[in-house]
Amino acid sequence: MLRVITAGAASLFAALRVSKEALAGSVTLGVVFAAGYYFGKKKSPTMSISKSHCGGKDNPLMQYVLNHSMREHPVLKNLRLRTMEDSWNIMMVACEQSQFMANLARLIHAKKALEIGVYTGYNTLNMALALPDDGVLVACDISEEYTNIGKPFWKEAGVEHKIDLRLQPALKTLDDLLSDGQAETFDFVFIDADKVNYDNYYEKSLQLLRKGGIIAVDNVLWSGKVVSPDPDDEDTVAIDKLNKKLHRDVRINLSMLTVGDGLTLAIKL
Ligand SMILES: C[S@@+](CC[C@H](N)C(=O)[O-])C[C@H]1O[C@@H](n2cnc3c(N)ncnc32)[C@H](O)[C@@H]1O
Ligand SMILES: *[C@@H]1O[C@H](CO)[C@@H](O)[C@H](O)[C@H]1NC(C)=O
Ligand SMILES: *[C@@H]1O[C@H](CO)[C@@H](O)[C@H](O)[C@H]1NC(C)=O
Repeated sequence: MLRVITAGAASLFAALRVSKEALAGSVTLGVVFAAGYYFGKKKSPTMSISKSHCGGKDNPLMQYVLNHSMREHPVLKNLRLRTMEDSWNIMMVACEQSQFMANLARLIHAKKALEIGVYTGYNTLNMALALPDDGVLVACDISEEYTNIGKPFWKEAGVEHKIDLRLQPALKTLDDLLSDGQAETFDFVFIDADKVNYDNYYEKSLQLLRKGGIIAVDNVLWSGKVVSPDPDDEDTVAIDKLNKKLHRDVRINLSMLTVGDGLTLAIKL
């Protein structure tokens, strides 16, 4: 775990140098977001369950899981390897978690999906591969820099026509979809962007979702920090608050899974 933290610190400083050069607003926003993500990871590493690509590879049991379950599309594998070259690869979804969500989407015959937080689009590609040819994945992010890494891979895999990338704050995109009359039409939602907005993303996603549809909320364990949240850490507080709310929310059935950094599945009743 220490090795991961060290790598994280190095990339944090690399990323901050980028922001000092005052690039486009969205890039700076992305860096600020990523810094929050990194500091979110820092405090209680011993309680972390660990993603396959962030320390998990040193764990023989995790290696066994990967060896005996991963069926990664070749283009997906190449996108993962490309993403590992990026300083912020700690943000990428765990590949075993992504495969699980793609299987879930197929199981419920998802045709319309929403991804809130794309980064380099590993999960975006996996989800697009799981949708039928006339399916649609509305993909929300603010960073052109990160999403540009994924685009050529989406094209190479022949699924770019299913991906509707919207580069603006995700809340705006969700509001656009609602005012466009798309409430109750989505089958699957993956929430994985800025943590302080998680509750807003959840509420708007629930409106956009059909009955029986699934919202998957990522990072619900936040490296274990949710167990005793620091009141000054707004990310941890926001996640813990949403976890408590979902547990008693009668609009859904739920499961909290210990895959990756923690994943809650909420099924709309
Ligand atoms: C954890 S990463 C997403 C990982 C991705 N789901 C995957 O499968 O690898 C979070 C992403 O959320 C984006 N983000 C942060 N704030 C946002 C906002 N307000 N609206 C939309 N995207 C945002 C960041 O640019 C970053 O790419
Ligand atoms: C996983 O597969 C790799 C490559 O085949 C092998 O070297 C390693 O021993 C395997 N580990 C486990 C725990 O199955
Ligand atoms: C939700 O869970 C309850 C049991 O807690 C069950 O009776 C009900 O069928 C579930 N609904 C769905 C749609 O899975």
